[in-house]
Amino acid sequence: MEKRNIPISLPVTGDEEWKAVRAPLISGWITTGPKVREFEQLFAERHQVKHALAVTSATTALHLAMVALDVGPDDEVIVPAFTWVATANVVEYCQARVVFVDVDPQTFNIDPEDLKKRITDKTKAIIAVHLFGLCADMDAIKEIAGDIPLVEDAACASGAGYNGVPAGALGDIGCFSFHPRKSITTGEGGMLTTNSDMLAEKMSMLRNHGASVSEEQRHHGPRPYILPDFNMLGFNYRMTDLQGAVGCVQIKKLDAFIDERAEWAAFYKKELAELDWLQLPDYDDKFKHGWQSFVTLVDEEKAPFNRNDIMELLQEKGVSTRPGTHAVHMLNYYKERYQLKADDFPGARLVNDCSMAIPLHNRMTGEDFAYVVHCLKNL
Ligand SMILES: Cc1ncc(COP(=O)(O)O)c(C=O)c1O
Repeated sequence: MEKRNIPISLPVTGDEEWKAVRAPLISGWITTGPKVREFEQLFAERHQVKHALAVTSATTALHLAMVALDVGPDDEVIVPAFTWVATANVVEYCQARVVFVDVDPQTFNIDPEDLKKRITDKTKAIIAVHLFGLCADMDAIKEIAGDIPLVEDAACASGAGYNGVPAGALGDIGCFSFHPRKSITTGEGGMLTTNSDMLAEKMSMLRNHGASVSEEQRHHGPRPYILPDFNMLGFNYRMTDLQGAVGCVQIKKLDAFIDERAEWAAFYKKELAELDWLQLPDYDDKFKHGWQSFVTLVDEEKAPFNRNDIMELLQEKGVSTRPGTHAVHMLNYYKERYQLKADDFPGARLVNDCSMAIPLHNRMTGEDFAYVVHCLKNL
């Protein structure tokens, strides 16, 4: 087969998104305004939640979730050991203690059995990550968590579901990302979701310096010259209306993107099944996968080469791959701060060393998918 160059991910943005940013640019209302509000409404409807609040990233969404839940010094927050570092960092921002929980190498998500051992009377919250678009086993987690607030790190899980309920509506607060590697993008960007009026009001103020009214309300209200009161220590995590305008276009394409990805994921699963050294995503019917990434696990005992050599060989053939993500407890900052060893979380260590995401995105053609399969079968 002729060589092709296939990036790990490429967003689908084009004329529609380009035209959408015209309105805020012409009107001059560029910061959080009508376009962000429209995006929030569309996002809330799609994810069946009462409130959706746009912010600058999933990281800032997670940070506001921690602040809204009053996480502070002396508190512990449980975080999966295999996730993007931001999930743990937001706990550190609040001077609280990160307590890692191991993951199940089959799903890459929290192992409920290990979670049972990590809860103490200091546990202030649990962050359940829906990694790569597959929801964590929320029923099992909720049963163990009891009254402990559950935050969904749904950075990768726009449009995903669990028992018919969308991600973002499964816990107390959901946190989404619109980074270009996610299924839908606004460049950078994030969304908070919640069914709680109290948390929504608090997070809405927190994203805008703690102001009691939004800038749009004030400027278009009866007394725009009066500055609002600031009731709490807040942040500037406001999404711009340029991003909001792009988000309005992208959210309408979300389900079509996921459906297309699901078809190609099924193609990979069928075509790659014969490789006994490659574990493919496998999960039961209660999950609706969001297919942010297609992440495999290389069985290094059976594989012809180790994971890193396979990634290098594929790169030489033009096929980009990446490790799924990283084991946060093995990163220097966390290793030293909490005196951790790689083997403290064997599931996370295994998937840190052996996971491999292969290209799955909406700019790939049938020939691209066939080429990836061909390269994997002919290393
Ligand atoms: C699981 C997880 N959480 C949080 C984040 C942070 O998202 P953002 O880049 O929008 O801050 C990411 C980003 O890759 C992620 O994968």
